[in-house]
Amino acid sequence: MHDITIHYSNMLSDKVGKEHGLSLNDLDSLQPVASNIHKLLRSKREKGELPFYDLPYQDVTEILNYAAYIKDRFENFVVLGIGGSALGTIALQTALNNSQYNLLSKSERNGCPRLFVADNIDPVQFAEMLSILDMDKTLFNVVTKSGTTAETMSQFMIVYDRIKKLKGDRWKENIVVTTDKAKGVLRKIAYELGLKSFIVPDGVGGRFSVFTPVGLLPAAVAGIDIKGLLKGAALMDERCREDSIIDNPAYLYASLLYLSDTKKGKKITVMIPYSYALKDISDWFRQLWAESLGKKYSLNGEVVNVGQTPVKALGVTDQHSQIQLYVEGPFDKVVTFLKVEEFKVRMGIPQNPPIPPLERGGKGGFEEISYLCGHSLNELINIERDGTEYALTKNNRPNCTIIFPELNPSTIGQVMYMLEVSTAFAGGLYNINPFDQPGVEEGKRFTIEALKRKTL
Ligand code: PA5
Repeated sequence: MHDITIHYSNMLSDKVGKEHGLSLNDLDSLQPVASNIHKLLRSKREKGELPFYDLPYQDVTEILNYAAYIKDRFENFVVLGIGGSALGTIALQTALNNSQYNLLSKSERNGCPRLFVADNIDPVQFAEMLSILDMDKTLFNVVTKSGTTAETMSQFMIVYDRIKKLKGDRWKENIVVTTDKAKGVLRKIAYELGLKSFIVPDGVGGRFSVFTPVGLLPAAVAGIDIKGLLKGAALMDERCREDSIIDNPAYLYASLLYLSDTKKGKKITVMIPYSYALKDISDWFRQLWAESLGKKYSLNGEVVNVGQTPVKALGVTDQHSQIQLYVEGPFDKVVTFLKVEEFKVRMGIPQNPPIPPLERGGKGGFEEISYLCGHSLNELINIERDGTEYALTKNNRPNCTIIFPELNPSTIGQVMYMLEVSTAFAGGLYNINPFDQPGVEEGKRFTIEALKRKTL
């Protein structure tokens, strides 16, 4: 059994009390609404209006061939993109590659280029990143669905200028574009100048685009098994064909968070992976949940101002930073643990602690740490997670756990697909459109107008 599972008994009132915990009746009462949302989502999928659902079944030959083609030609692959055009790539890289990937030698990277994601326009950070790259040996992937985003297009212009100065008309060899097939100025540039390009399919928004060339191209370039990833997503798709909340993991997860928010006042949802590899999955999910569900208007046009605030944390690091607040602070949070059962490496703690010799005044042993001897970091990290779960539950703080038997392309594909479906379904529960982002667009328009007004 290699599927991810959700344990949610600590969300229920018999574990955390009636004031904060849900009853099975709450879930049952939501079922008729869930069945209607399910029907609506299915019918939209069948009409091709929600193409993100079918991405697990695409042909990735072109992506794999291109990744193979550039493998020997470039030392570095740099994604220029922001938000949904960057977070999925970062999440995949952290989850499925060595945590020190860019520091490994080329042969340790199986010949694959280093991977950088420039998802900010901090001038210092961007300048410092460019300064360490051999521009001739670097391929820049300009990723923007709209093809107009100010941050990404300004990065592109800086990079273009530098490579053009270095290589003249051969600058095009160092740029590959991922954008809409027709819309946006980047598509126009790519078409008129003959740049190599990939397409973000119609109807797939940035934060739902990890399984398009937006996430798959950088992942394939960095040697990640993208077919395995899509297989995992397809497995989850099968499990998400049920309309029953209890049997459909995506609906179950969305319902638990939605009911905690609307019935129990849990306005904050914290995701805590107890695995460094999963830390950027919670960052990716933070954007998915926030940008999709934080909305002013309902589908009927009423002002509703809904949305639960997603917070990311990391076990065990944040046990020494956030957990005090989560266990004893305001009752405004619901916690999701991400737990890995089998880590890919076992790191044992030695049997014998350092013992100062008796003749130098040592006491003959370090009793306070001897309980660690012979155990492993694997045991310690999961026992610490159990401890946090215990403390939260004892203090009436609802929490659930997504369990990964192990981390591999399949389980990562499963969880990302599940969270996308959860978000689409939660849009139905909140009765808002989870696929737009009018609040972000407003800020984008302001920036363009302000720069136009500013004289040089
Ligand atoms: O999820 C979204 O739609 C956004 O976060 C976008 O990805 C982000 O604003 C970047 O947009 P674009 O890909 O058009 O450059």
